[in-house]
Amino acid sequence: MTQSLLLLPGDGIGPEVTAVAKRVAGRLIAGGLDLAVAEGPFGGASIDAHGVPLTDETLARAKAADAVLMGAVGGPQWAGQPYDKRPEAGLLGLRAGMNVYANLRPARCFAALADASSLKRIHVEGLDILFVRELTGGVYFGTPRGVETLPDGSRRGVNTHVYTSAEIIRVTRVAFDLARGRTGAVCSAEKGNVMEAGLMWREEVQALRDAEYPDIKLSHMLADNMAMQLVKNPKQFDVILTDNLFGDILSDEAAMLTGSLGMLPSAAIGDAGTPGLYEPIHGSAPDIAGRGVANPCASVLSLAMALRYSLGRPDLAAGLEKAVEKALDAGARTPDLGGALTTAAMGDAILAHL
Ligand code: IPM
Ligand code: MG
Repeated sequence: MTQSLLLLPGDGIGPEVTAVAKRVAGRLIAGGLDLAVAEGPFGGASIDAHGVPLTDETLARAKAADAVLMGAVGGPQWAGQPYDKRPEAGLLGLRAGMNVYANLRPARCFAALADASSLKRIHVEGLDILFVRELTGGVYFGTPRGVETLPDGSRRGVNTHVYTSAEIIRVTRVAFDLARGRTGAVCSAEKGNVMEAGLMWREEVQALRDAEYPDIKLSHMLADNMAMQLVKNPKQFDVILTDNLFGDILSDEAAMLTGSLGMLPSAAIGDAGTPGLYEPIHGSAPDIAGRGVANPCASVLSLAMALRYSLGRPDLAAGLEKAVEKALDAGARTPDLGGALTTAAMGDAILAHL
């Protein structure tokens, strides 16, 4: 049966890097993969064309696809808008609408790039951390939220960090299941020393481990300590489980350990049988957009994650990851990696090893 991939190139360098992933998908299709690729408007591009960052039609098409590959959203031209009219609101709406509550963010250091890290090679060579970040709850979505003006003219801003036990348990399950295919070690981050909801997070994670996953080596760490440990000794971590906000922050920190934000893919998945949302971790990078120099590796590696988690082709995923690694080993580098290849030429290098 033909599977479907919806591309949402979005803004900034999004269309440039997604074009490379599209070429790679075309190659796999030519090689026999039964996949139909379509495209839709999203983010700032959708605001310009349709007035909103995520149209009902795009959301419906995303939910009907087998996998969605996004490029990037955002840019200075939309920054002054109210929150619900910003490109980022489209992304949050897409995550919530698709109910992709578990965000997998691998921070893997490619051997060829170990010297690009801000840490010494010994700390990052062989680094292989998998973040499992809760993606559809917490302070990103909690209510009440907003800013009010008080009678005395001063203002009061509110956002609410809120989780139910069901939300914690389902994302923890994803982390534990993935850990079983790795070393079995999971470290969960929260601020249970100051937040009731943080302590509850810890208790729910521990209770699921005790009830159903006795083989999982579970540890807990305060999020601030984890921020420190990630730069002190990152290789102590295997799977890291976090809420939405801590995961946003700590995964950016871990990404930098690997040398380039331009290398890292991500997957957002929900219940079995529902489509996943795949996207590079890097943003729209307005400073280099339109120049054809963006690194397409994260987009290509996100396509690999789609093949693994949504399209049932872990074999093709591994082949694609190998092709990226071989291209790097052979010296292929975009400017962010210290080289001079264009986005398209980096795509050529990857395709040459596929
Ligand atoms: C990310 C981004 C998003 C987030 C923004 C663009 C809304 O930083 O995917 O990490 O905060 O989740
Ligand atoms: Mg982020």
